[in-house]
Amino acid sequence: MHLSKEQNTKVEELLSQMTLEEKIGQMNQESPSIVGGFDVPFEELIEMMTDGRISAEEFQNMMSAAERDFHENDIRAGKVGSLLLDDPGKSNELQRIAVEESRLGIPLIIGFDVIHGYRSVYPIAIAEACSFDEVLFEETARIAAEESRAYGINWNFAPMIDVARDARWGRVSEGPGEDPCLASAFARAKVRGLQDDSADSYVAACLKHYVAYGACEAGRDYNTTSMSISQLHNVYLPPFKAAAEEGAATAMASFNDLNGVPCTVNSYTLRIILKDTYGLEGFVVSDANGIKECVTHGIAEDDADAGIQAVKAGLDMDMGTHIYKEYLKDAVSAGKVSADVIDDAVRRILSVKMWLGLFENPYVPEETMAKYQDILPKKHVEKVREAAEKSIVLLKNENQTLPLKRSQKISLVGCLAADKNEVCGAWAMGWKEADCVSILDGLKGAGADVVYYPCGGPVGDISEEEIQKASADCDVIVAVVGELTNMTGEASSKANIKMPGKQRKMLEKLLESGKPVIAVLMNGRPLALGWEDEHLPAILECWHLGIQMGNAVAAVLLGDKNPEGKLSSSFPYANGQCPVYYNHPNTGRPGSRSKFTSRYLDAPFEALYPFGYGLSYTTFEYQELKAEETEDSVKAAVTVKNTGTVDGRECVQLYMQDVAAGLVRPVKELKAFQKIFLPAGTEKKIELELKKQDMGYYDNDGIYRLEDGMFRIYAGGNSRDCLCEELRIEF
Ligand code: NOJ
Repeated sequence: MHLSKEQNTKVEELLSQMTLEEKIGQMNQESPSIVGGFDVPFEELIEMMTDGRISAEEFQNMMSAAERDFHENDIRAGKVGSLLLDDPGKSNELQRIAVEESRLGIPLIIGFDVIHGYRSVYPIAIAEACSFDEVLFEETARIAAEESRAYGINWNFAPMIDVARDARWGRVSEGPGEDPCLASAFARAKVRGLQDDSADSYVAACLKHYVAYGACEAGRDYNTTSMSISQLHNVYLPPFKAAAEEGAATAMASFNDLNGVPCTVNSYTLRIILKDTYGLEGFVVSDANGIKECVTHGIAEDDADAGIQAVKAGLDMDMGTHIYKEYLKDAVSAGKVSADVIDDAVRRILSVKMWLGLFENPYVPEETMAKYQDILPKKHVEKVREAAEKSIVLLKNENQTLPLKRSQKISLVGCLAADKNEVCGAWAMGWKEADCVSILDGLKGAGADVVYYPCGGPVGDISEEEIQKASADCDVIVAVVGELTNMTGEASSKANIKMPGKQRKMLEKLLESGKPVIAVLMNGRPLALGWEDEHLPAILECWHLGIQMGNAVAAVLLGDKNPEGKLSSSFPYANGQCPVYYNHPNTGRPGSRSKFTSRYLDAPFEALYPFGYGLSYTTFEYQELKAEETEDSVKAAVTVKNTGTVDGRECVQLYMQDVAAGLVRPVKELKAFQKIFLPAGTEKKIELELKKQDMGYYDNDGIYRLEDGMFRIYAGGNSRDCLCEELRIEF
């Protein structure tokens, strides 16, 4: 986000004309989850209706009348700066009131959750990150920006860049996985894609959830987070730093408390780190109801106190409560909040609006609004299909069970296989069922000889009769198993991440047929797959891939596309291993088979499928790693050979370990990666560079340290199986 001198001057001029009330109005976001005039949270209204205090009809009337009048009057009075809305007609209507009927005509910024595409839904982030493809990350974000703007949304509550290492947390689906380096690359690319102001349409990005939300204790959503300053800076902050430096316009404060201070009122993370150190130029919005929750957290006495703490900490906009609107004016008059703090917040908000061009073009043009109503552009469909194909990870493939031949008779099993409504996954809002391709449709369209048997799914019973039929007349069984969309995402933590429902039983029964049973996984988190890995010949991780899911899965199953995805998160054998992640610190007793080491008695200590892992229909061999020190970097060269019979794409990964440091450091840290294409039988020397300035770490005072000493440099096709070289580095 960059403003010209002229634009900055306009912001200052506007600011100087505003009353305190109008300024506070800019800091207020309205959304349908708060019913205007009543100030009753939506959930409570629903409860009132459920227990009969109000009738369903009363509820409806209250909702629409109150909401409409309230929003319109408040916008007219300059008391609203932003809306949470995805209705182009309505946003034009309300925008017109702001621009034409409010005293200063300041346009509204309209935000919405466009997390992995609006209508052209592409893979959920944990899946897309498996492509390790920065160009793709940017291109899909461009499509999201274009479609958002066409639907009247000029501010996307994305990217979600919480590093997350505990698969019990339902929101692992929304983010790019467990590794700070991959998450940072993802974050930068998403900001570039969303905010490309040289394009016809662009939106403001919103970095969320700031910060450490992914570290919620025991993987339980909204739970407390507690960590050292070093851990915060080395693991959870890097994607936010990268994205802020890329010019991200806004950020969203997370619900969790961090070391006892809720992130909504945390001046260390908001003001000192994000604004003063990383230089975020735009504004910070709370998460929904976040300010009010500071009272529940037990850090604020009442709403007014919560609002004062939040604004002083650097929280510029209130989402979901009316606390700023209700209490900030008095707080300023009483000298509890300085006018400068308010001016700073409003300046940031106006600057984002100015950069978005909302003062010149506040409305969604009719023709843009109509553009995506009926038909999706071919180039969007092709791109989201490419993203879906690149996100698929082949986890197991014994005796080359995959790819399938078109001559094979396939029994396709499991309710998820034919369900178009389950392909998009959590936080997908604008898709239309007609655009979605199920796996069944994909296979049929690709010319496979396939018969579908529902048999069972993540919920409900299995049908033994159908299982018998499915097993009888086929050469191979493809079982689509996993999770429903609502099993991941917000408020969807699980204590048990094994295959949900009776699906394992279904797989057992199918195996009794003696036919090869291939599991196609459709899910939003790493599952504990110890049993499946032991019993099934092939497992294909397909996540929730978006509207083109069926075509992408069919292409990989039938070998039209060679899988190239690598895991963005480690998969455990068993529930109790959570959190399991590759870049863990060294213990004094690294896990091994012997008793007094860091291990479990009843489960392996390592991941079943580690970060960076993923098979191909060909095989790659790594040879001759050579790491050399240059003036300002370490250059690592490694030869990669395609030793199989088909062409393939590989992600070459470079890791590092600081052998002896001032603090215990991870056993491995990803530092660079490169996707390559290798025709069958060929080899290539790949060079990866690790900048010396990136070889340090943050200590517990938040100071970045580069320490001379021995480093191990690793290169390989996953975080476990690598070649290694040692090198002494002086900085
Ligand atoms: C709550 C979620 O935590 C956040 O991700 C989302 O952007 C907001 N609600 C707005 O819908």
